[in-house]
Amino acid sequence: MFANSLTGLVRSVGLSTVMRAAGMVTKLLPIPQPTMMVGPGSSARLGQAINDFGHTRVLIVTDPVVSKLGLMAPLLQALKAGGTDYVVFDQITPDAPIALIEKGVVVFKAQGCDAIVAFGGGSAMDAAKAIGLAAANHKHPAQLVGYFKGRRAPAPIYAVPTTAGTGSEVTVAAVISDPETNRKLVIADTRLVPRMAALDPALMVGLPPDITAATGMDALTHAIEAFVGHWGTVFTDRMALSAVGMIYENLPVAYVNGQDLAAREKMALAANYAGQAFTRANVGYVHAIAHQLGGLYHTPHGLANAIMLPQVLRFLSPAITGKLALLALRVKVGKKTDTEEVLAHKFLDSIDAMNIRLGIPTTLAALREEDISALARAACREADANYPVPLYMSQAICEQVIRQVLPSHPAVATLPRKAPVKQGGRKTASGAKTRTEPLALT
Ligand SMILES: NC(=O)c1ccc[n+]([C@@H]2O[C@H](COP(=O)([O-])OP(=O)(O)OC[C@H]3O[C@@H](n4cnc5c(N)ncnc54)[C@H](O)[C@@H]3O)[C@@H](O)[C@H]2O)c1
Ligand SMILES: [Fe+2]
Repeated sequence: MFANSLTGLVRSVGLSTVMRAAGMVTKLLPIPQPTMMVGPGSSARLGQAINDFGHTRVLIVTDPVVSKLGLMAPLLQALKAGGTDYVVFDQITPDAPIALIEKGVVVFKAQGCDAIVAFGGGSAMDAAKAIGLAAANHKHPAQLVGYFKGRRAPAPIYAVPTTAGTGSEVTVAAVISDPETNRKLVIADTRLVPRMAALDPALMVGLPPDITAATGMDALTHAIEAFVGHWGTVFTDRMALSAVGMIYENLPVAYVNGQDLAAREKMALAANYAGQAFTRANVGYVHAIAHQLGGLYHTPHGLANAIMLPQVLRFLSPAITGKLALLALRVKVGKKTDTEEVLAHKFLDSIDAMNIRLGIPTTLAALREEDISALARAACREADANYPVPLYMSQAICEQVIRQVLPSHPAVATLPRKAPVKQGGRKTASGAKTRTEPLALT
């Protein structure tokens, strides 16, 4: 009800007005929760549940790797057994390029589909969400970028994540990409949250170690950015802290032994909790920078986050020492008798250690000095306009943060440690004025 009236408000008064009130809105806006099925075999149980809704024909959106691995077999068998007609669209490539969304819309319409199963990693799930919204509104996907740009709700969406990372099965967002401009674009709408989702660890046992690592670090980044930002609530803090604890315990296990079903299931749950946290409390500079790196260099999203996470947190640490200390206690890298500063340092060091354990480099091979200025500008624009960050970066500081991960850069943090100004103040760590009020929904 409230979501509908907010949707109307966004359309009638424009986004910026709503963004000014968005901090309050995220606390009040009812973000739907999908019915969750969890455990080995849950994708088949989801298929059985879909049968009960009597859809005419279901579009299953996935990527060619997932399709060839046969991961959809249990779901497809369940749909067949229950008499639900379906068509598979398995062409999605990483970061869901616009052209493939358009192709999916054509298939959805031509086949007379009235429901969608989003099956795969974040790229396939987000493509499915975008296809649903674009088909319902007869719009080009680019016209849906932003908040609540569609008048009509998409057909019912069901989700089966096959990576433990994005949490897209519970989020309001669909991240797509425009290869022509090298940009990643976000469509946000509460009606993009799937109706039902299955967290089936049996589908994740074949996920290669590098993808396990990168996607797991994406989930960790969601949880940390939601926790240290300014829109956290009791609910999102609980979800974020649980996710961080579960990821510390289970990601190294799943990385070393992908067949460990218990660790895979915990990781799927942790990514889901992190998704529930960040879709309400939002993300921050790590994502703002990672989105630019993904757009320009096609760096896998989780890898870009993992490489930037320690650098951004070191910049933010004077403003979030207490929260970093709580995270340290949660992941058991410090003692209650340690000072907050010591605990915060221990947590930052533990992220470095986690990256090393997961084979994640400290630098980004593709990064070039001549790109840094534009990358920083775009990242600051994204963060300033959208994210409730605890401390603002000037363009110069953002460039410095990104420069830390240049392949030729000595891997030692050399950021200035000036007295921070917390959000609400309009200054950055360097004292420069920031550009816009940072308020938004995802
Ligand atoms: N909607 C959201 O809320 C949200 C949140 C974070 C990130 N994202 C977006 O999601 C995308 C990244 O998603 P991702 O990290 O899950 O990666 P992905 O979907 O791009 O998949 C990465 C690779 O893993 C393969 N893969 C997936 N599941 C597999 C399995 N079970 N076994 C073997 N291989 C498998 C895929 O084929 C692909 O090659 C990015 O575009 C990112 O911006 C969206
Ligand atoms: Fe992410």
